[in-house]
Amino acid sequence: MEKMWAGRFTKPSDQLADDFNSSLPFDCRMYRQDIQGSMAHAAMLGAQGIITKQDADTIIDGLDGILRDLDEGTLDFDPACEDIHMFVEQVLTQRIGDTGKRLHTARSRNDQVAVDLRMYLRDECNEIKDLIRKLIGAIIGQAAQHKETILPGYTHLQRAQPITFAHHLAAYGMMLARDLSRIEDAAKRMNRSPLGSCALAGTTYPIDRNATAEALGFDGPCLNSLDGVSDRDYCVELLSALSLIMTHLSRFSEEIILWSSWEFRFVELDDAYTTGSSIMPQKKNSDMAELVRGKTGRVYGDLMGMLTVLKGLPLAYNKDMQEDKECIFDAVDTAKKCLEIFTPMIATMRVNADRMYRAAQEGFINATDIADYLVRKGLPFRTAYKIVGQIVGHCIATNQVPDTMPLAEYQTFSDLFAEDLYEDIKLETCVKKRISQGAPGTIDQQLAYLQNLI
Ligand code: ARG
Repeated sequence: MEKMWAGRFTKPSDQLADDFNSSLPFDCRMYRQDIQGSMAHAAMLGAQGIITKQDADTIIDGLDGILRDLDEGTLDFDPACEDIHMFVEQVLTQRIGDTGKRLHTARSRNDQVAVDLRMYLRDECNEIKDLIRKLIGAIIGQAAQHKETILPGYTHLQRAQPITFAHHLAAYGMMLARDLSRIEDAAKRMNRSPLGSCALAGTTYPIDRNATAEALGFDGPCLNSLDGVSDRDYCVELLSALSLIMTHLSRFSEEIILWSSWEFRFVELDDAYTTGSSIMPQKKNSDMAELVRGKTGRVYGDLMGMLTVLKGLPLAYNKDMQEDKECIFDAVDTAKKCLEIFTPMIATMRVNADRMYRAAQEGFINATDIADYLVRKGLPFRTAYKIVGQIVGHCIATNQVPDTMPLAEYQTFSDLFAEDLYEDIKLETCVKKRISQGAPGTIDQQLAYLQNLI
């Protein structure tokens, strides 16, 4: 097939070069956006008298037919075309003849690809938001059943203070709530139309950029044509938001893997979201969570790849920018799949409240509460802290837990201890009494906040 630009050249390009140059294998997924963009452009050219109304209608009809055929799978992508933009224009011209050649007036593939990608990613942002909401929903569902389920909260992976499982889950809910707003932010800045920036310097034709921006659902046109065709900040922003989503899912995965281990046995994943071993009959592995943790690296790599493509690129368009698509598509696909699998995995996870409670009983995690007891009786916190340190040492030496240590023994450390201590340091009391804002005792407010987002 003769190249569109053959006139300028004395010989055809090498097949290897054609293959190397082609983006059709991966940008074909933007065919819908490409055609919609072309329809809006043709309508604007007609309305502005740049082409005749009749030509505009013929083009739009032709494009509509191509869209339908691609949707229905009756039209195959031609691998000889360099990219989706060339392919659509080629089919259009084959179908409607010379009129098709008028479509590319006052336009370039540089603004075309920028429009397509923004529209494509805008739709993906909506899907990602839906998936985040669904996962928040699954978290709320589990949390609602475990508002009283006590487990140790950890710092340094050492048992620290008692919390509830609902509180722990809600922490992930909050991370995802921020992810949701980050995606919204990225989508907002993304939503400006580069169409009409043309190759780099706009055009001498009397185009109406507001009309095409509006027709395509953008908030308005980009204000500088060089920036319009060379800006990929929106890809970086989305990739960063996706990277953080993956960070959160990966941390969550790590805990699920840990909690599912025989050492913890805090939770058990449903059989549907685990795998066995080909050699060890006893194994039940958290493969989904491990894969999510592993795929996090891929998404970070996509972000780094995109940033590196942009670094040092002179204005305006350079072919390097074609490399934006595989990074961002991979990251979007990966993050979506991870969110998708996480939701039913969390929803069906069984919680072993007994194991959690026993772990909470064993780690002196009410030590802070014993100190707080002495503070309520008038001691300065530091003094109380020191006394409780000695009590913990004594408990370890005498192999007992503070909850059942006799009062007489307590009183050898301080005469402020009285019978009411035992009620105060019960795990249930420790959790319920923590009603400072954001503490386990405020779980209802936390869940209401999350519920509001979904
Ligand atoms: N396939 C190209 C890309 O994805 C489209 C823009 C090509 N523009 C150009 N001047 N070669 O970036």
